[in-house]
Amino acid sequence: MAEPIRVGIVGAQFAARFHWEGLSRVYKVPIQLVGVTSRSAASREKFAQDKGVRAFDTFEQLCDAVDVVDICSPPSSHEPLAVQALERGKHVIVEKPFTGYYGADISGFCGNTFPKEEMLREAVASCNRILTAAKASGKTVCYAENWIYAPAIQKEREILVKSGGQILWIIGEESHSGSHSPYYGSWKSSGGGSLVGKGCHPLSAALYLKRVEGEARNGVPIRPVTASARTHEITRLKDFRDEGFLRTSYEDVEDFVQIHIKFSDGTVADIFSTELVLGGVHNWLEVVSNNHRTRCNLSPVNALETFNPKEDLFRDVYVSEKIGTKQGWSNPSADENWHHGYVHEFQDFMESIQDRRKPLSTIELARDTVAALYTGYLSAERGGIEVDIPAASEDL
Ligand SMILES: NC(=O)c1ccc[n+]([C@@H]2O[C@H](COP(=O)([O-])OP(=O)(O)OC[C@H]3O[C@@H](n4cnc5c(N)ncnc54)[C@H](O)[C@@H]3O)[C@@H](O)[C@H]2O)c1
Repeated sequence: MAEPIRVGIVGAQFAARFHWEGLSRVYKVPIQLVGVTSRSAASREKFAQDKGVRAFDTFEQLCDAVDVVDICSPPSSHEPLAVQALERGKHVIVEKPFTGYYGADISGFCGNTFPKEEMLREAVASCNRILTAAKASGKTVCYAENWIYAPAIQKEREILVKSGGQILWIIGEESHSGSHSPYYGSWKSSGGGSLVGKGCHPLSAALYLKRVEGEARNGVPIRPVTASARTHEITRLKDFRDEGFLRTSYEDVEDFVQIHIKFSDGTVADIFSTELVLGGVHNWLEVVSNNHRTRCNLSPVNALETFNPKEDLFRDVYVSEKIGTKQGWSNPSADENWHHGYVHEFQDFMESIQDRRKPLSTIELARDTVAALYTGYLSAERGGIEVDIPAASEDL
């Protein structure tokens, strides 16, 4: 029997937990979940104890003990950790947003007023540094964008390919009432607000489907060429009336964005993302093509419709992400990790590493996403005008 692929997780909180669960459900590929490291000793010790694995004091120690480094730490740490892991000859899994611009060494840095042209240039350069390290090491980079693996998106991929459709317009959204993470809200660690934190999900899914369409038709991915965007800071408006249901503690990032993408074939996508939406995570993507129309619902889904007359009754019942209240009618997610794509994501990542092939969610898709996101910020700085997305070669 083949030696198991040894995996270590960096970060020990929210994302680390669902990565663990996804990895735990991998079948046919032998894997060993070796351990965890994180900045906080308390959280890595607790995670290690809960899961029965080793807590590593340093990133380097974890690296030495594994074949795959799974990066679930805040966005500003993604590039340095990924590059270091690749240079040590490890495969890497990188959470979204893949990378970005964080103003690391700039004192008094304020993301929402910092020049966006420089941000865009540096965010693309950050992608390129990871790409260069990947190429030099020959190791696999898996872009942990779970929307690519969501069964609803993969079913649309099948419909698109088998029907030979042309996507004319995609519209999608990821919104909720505000991130739990203390790192989110400060550009220095998150690299932006709703656009990079949430909009990245439906955006990557839209870019993925247009890639698939082009590859199915003539082997050439259809890629994004321009972006126009508006960003707003609604919860920081002078007249915003806080009723206590939304997170409001953002320092220098937007809480509302809309971005319009034009693809190389002239077709378009519109993505919305906000921190303003009550009632649980609102994740959906609609594909309007020349021969079919599909609405992919990631959350909520109505496999279950449950009425609960009293909040307390569901105290120990998980309903769905960021639902807020469990009283009244709700749509409990029957298997959220499955429906959000985490199960399929880690199966593909481990198979791709074992079989030495590219994962479905590639470094090229990650780079196009980052370039489109920061082009969006540049457009928003210019009042929403159309801005060219820096082109990058597909020849890696
Ligand atoms: N795909 C998704 O649906 C999804 C959902 C949530 C978060 N995320 C992504 O996962 C990543 C982590 O988010 P989270 O919600 O788990 O954040 P979190 O705040 O809950 O946890 C962050 C963890 O990283 C550790 N950490 C911080 N800096 C570190 C460093 N330099 N080196 C090592 N460890 C460090 C912290 O100690 C903590 O354990 C982010 O990139 C986020 O965008 C993805």
